[in-house]
Amino acid sequence: MQLNFDLIANTMQPALRAALAAVEELASQGGGEARGAVFTRREVVDFILDLSGYTPDKPLHEKRLLEPSFGGGDFLLSAVERLLAAWRIHGDGGSTLDALKNAIRAVELHRDTFQSTRRALVEYLTASDVGLQTANRLADAWLVQDDFLLVPLDGQFDYVIGNPPYVRQELIPEALMRASEKARKLAEQTGTPFVVRKPASAEKQSKS
Ligand SMILES: C[S@@+](CC[C@H](N)C(=O)[O-])C[C@H]1O[C@@H](n2cnc3c(N)ncnc32)[C@H](O)[C@@H]1O
Repeated sequence: MQLNFDLIANTMQPALRAALAAVEELASQGGGEARGAVFTRREVVDFILDLSGYTPDKPLHEKRLLEPSFGGGDFLLSAVERLLAAWRIHGDGGSTLDALKNAIRAVELHRDTFQSTRRALVEYLTASDVGLQTANRLADAWLVQDDFLLVPLDGQFDYVIGNPPYVRQELIPEALMRASEKARKLAEQTGTPFVVRKPASAEKQSKS
């Protein structure tokens, strides 16, 4: 079915339209400060992955990992390295795509960053003996270009790992502040410097 995007845009709530426009601006702008684009050193990544138990001695292909804002892929690529190692130890020799496609979801807002990290991921997978077609399909299944606080994500996760964007509040567009008002209130009430959202399924459960 052909969707009429003009119609959708015209009937959208003004607040939602403004939030989507703000997301689009952040997704395409060059400067990293407003997006908190500071990446993580390898030894810190390894330390955190070890600490969280995301280690290849476990059947990681049966677990799910979420990276909410993958940036240059420092956490993402190390997690993939561990996932492939675990699959080689514990896998049943079946389809790599089927076995691994649900093991990772990783979100990045900034379009150029998304594209360059996607390329690095496919290069890494092919250099690790994953066929090019499977590597591209895994990248399509794993990576999402969107605003993590607004995008719907399927299912539950066993690990949520990554270095979140630390953005000065005054740099966050007003429309996005309103869209994530609940998250902001929670951060104020709990005194936490950032908020990681629950997956949609958990949100539904907590409402019922
Ligand atoms: C501190 S960097 C961390 C990158 C990566 N997690 C790491 O540890 O190396 C934060 C990243 O979050 C992205 N970002 C900012 N706001 C976002 C949002 N609302 N949703 C998804 N990604 C976002 C930025 O573009 C940037 O690449």
